[in-house]
Amino acid sequence: MRVLVTGGAGYIGAITAHKLLAAGCTVAVLDNLEKGYRAAVPPGVPFYQADLRQPDSLALPLREFRPEAVVHFAAYSLVGESVQHPGRYFKNNVLGGLHLLEAMAALDCRRILFSSTAAVYGDPARIPVVEDDPTVPTNPYGDSKLAFEKILTAFQRAYGFQAVSLRYFNAAGAWQDLGEDHRPETHLIPLVLEVALGRREQLSIYGDDYDTPDGTAIRDYIHVSDLADAHVRAVEYLAKGQSPPSPLVNGGVFNLGNGAGYSVREVLETARRVTGRAIPAVVAGRRPGDPPRLVAGSKRARQVLGWKPRFPELEAMIADAWAWKQAHPDGYA
Ligand SMILES: NC(=O)c1ccc[n+]([C@@H]2O[C@H](COP(=O)([O-])OP(=O)(O)OC[C@H]3O[C@@H](n4cnc5c(N)ncnc54)[C@H](O)[C@@H]3O)[C@@H](O)[C@H]2O)c1
Repeated sequence: MRVLVTGGAGYIGAITAHKLLAAGCTVAVLDNLEKGYRAAVPPGVPFYQADLRQPDSLALPLREFRPEAVVHFAAYSLVGESVQHPGRYFKNNVLGGLHLLEAMAALDCRRILFSSTAAVYGDPARIPVVEDDPTVPTNPYGDSKLAFEKILTAFQRAYGFQAVSLRYFNAAGAWQDLGEDHRPETHLIPLVLEVALGRREQLSIYGDDYDTPDGTAIRDYIHVSDLADAHVRAVEYLAKGQSPPSPLVNGGVFNLGNGAGYSVREVLETARRVTGRAIPAVVAGRRPGDPPRLVAGSKRARQVLGWKPRFPELEAMIADAWAWKQAHPDGYA
């Protein structure tokens, strides 16, 4: 299978590109390198530096590489920034994605795997949240991802696209020589480890008065290696011609989480244990729109894709992320 990975120079995309290659796929990467790193792209694969917001720049990679499937990671994903600059998010995540779909349709490439997010659920009414639960995003980032899921559904119906949407919870950890280097960094585990490394003074805990056992917010973390494996399985699922059993809104959506939630304090304590460092922390106010708990029910991915997280323990995720941070204190720079 010839697979084009958009955003394949980014954190999850690069690791997935490596794993797709290892699984026997022929891979090419498309990325504008705004947030990604050329060094993270698997050596030797065709690399197209192109921007999804410029539709003309997509024709060449698609015509030249002729993908049979696209794995679409390229997007902006900072919740706070999306609140301040919603236009940027709709332009990149919705309009950019639409350009990609139109370019694919023009060349008869109709298989797509989309990086969606738990943010589409907003503040879920029940935990663990499952795929058919209501989607009520609480920020423009979640809105932009949900909008693209709806566009995918329309393309499925209109043009026979086979589309799978993978809704991730919080990716964490590192794999081989590849890790997380977001600028700015907003994810809890790398932030905690930057404090451990002495690159930040302290960790801010946003709210300790939630209705949770220790008062801090609970999230579902998933090892990036497990996340990448799920993409390989989903590509294999599409390759077998297994169109999702029903339109995207029902059958083609899969949550990817490990079903266990960890609080901010549990992450902090585990990181203190793993690193042997003190990691000072202060309690700051809640951030608007942060739900108290977000935990995935991923039964569907296990049943339909045959996927099972191999590294569900928080300790393993933090240990791998810590090893990467120590080896790459300045990230890919
Ligand atoms: N990291 C997480 O925990 C998480 C959770 C849920 C969903 N997601 C989704 O997974 C995907 C990947 O996340 P990540 O953490 O690897 O992000 P990332 O920022 O590391 O990677 C995104 C990549 O896309 C590229 N890109 C962005 N806009 C582009 C455009 N217009 N044209 C071409 N390339 C473009 C960037 O340069 C970057 O390399 C995103 O779609 C994100 O919304 C991530």
